[in-house]
Amino acid sequence: MSDGVTLAQAQRRGVELLAATPADADIDVDWLLTAATGLSAAQRRAHPEDPITETAWRRFQALLQRRYRGEPVAYLLGRRGFLDFELVVTSAVLIPRPETEHLVEAALETPAARVLELGTGSGCIAIALARAWPAATVDATDCSAEALTVATQNAAILGADGIRFRLGDWYEPVSGSRYNLIVANPPYIGEQAPEPDQGDARFEPRLALRAEESGLAALRTIIVGAPRHLEPAGRIWLEHGYDQGPAVRECLAAHGFQAIETRRDLAGHERVSGGRLGDTPHE
Ligand SMILES: C[S@@+](CC[C@H](N)C(=O)[O-])C[C@H]1O[C@@H](n2cnc3c(N)ncnc32)[C@H](O)[C@@H]1O
Repeated sequence: MSDGVTLAQAQRRGVELLAATPADADIDVDWLLTAATGLSAAQRRAHPEDPITETAWRRFQALLQRRYRGEPVAYLLGRRGFLDFELVVTSAVLIPRPETEHLVEAALETPAARVLELGTGSGCIAIALARAWPAATVDATDCSAEALTVATQNAAILGADGIRFRLGDWYEPVSGSRYNLIVANPPYIGEQAPEPDQGDARFEPRLALRAEESGLAALRTIIVGAPRHLEPAGRIWLEHGYDQGPAVRECLAAHGFQAIETRRDLAGHERVSGGRLGDTPHE
């Protein structure tokens, strides 16, 4: 029972509960109280002594308990911002990361008519490229049918419904097709690394996070397959772990890529690498 609890008291109780967790209590409680009450932070601040309704109080308690147990705010709200748009997210997809915005920015530097994204998850990368290049053909694959349901929903909401989402293992659903740009943020965390078992990542799909060969297996599969799926002078851009830049550059060079470069994320870590295929066709 809310028993006359005011909006300000609800906020304070939420912050007190989450203070004992690694969550950013003030920010998270703001989001959760907005979701529960339908009132913005500004509206609540204007009337802090208003009582919270019984329904909103119950919703808020339920959301707080889930956050207390560690569920990411993005899954609790069912959405996450990416670049200049918002995506529906469920626990079937990786929560889009700010680092991935660097991948999109690098890819957008050279316009491409035919684009392939591998491992699309929420669809964030394919949708960003399709919105920037409305005339481009964009294909996107993922081996998770649940993820593709979310990506398809996002594309429809965001007016990018021309994207062709295909279910299957990396290039398998688009075999025989060639593109001017391949882009991917594949799983790249190694088998032994602790991150997927910590914090918010515990709730994200394993398939989206871990890869064999110290996290390099998916990156290598994608690079090895790229020459067969790129037009001459086609480009590839890949997101990778902070310490995987040298291995990714070496693999790109070994498979015919030139003009190889790496971009750093806001923390200064090597995060995105890419290159251009030679001018002669590959079999
Ligand atoms: C790191 S998540 C990236 C999701 C999204 N592109 C993003 O940047 O937020 C990797 C994605 O690759 C997909 N994936 C993993 N293994 C795959 C495979 N063998 N074939 C196709 N997709 C795969 C996962 O389901 C997941 O959606």
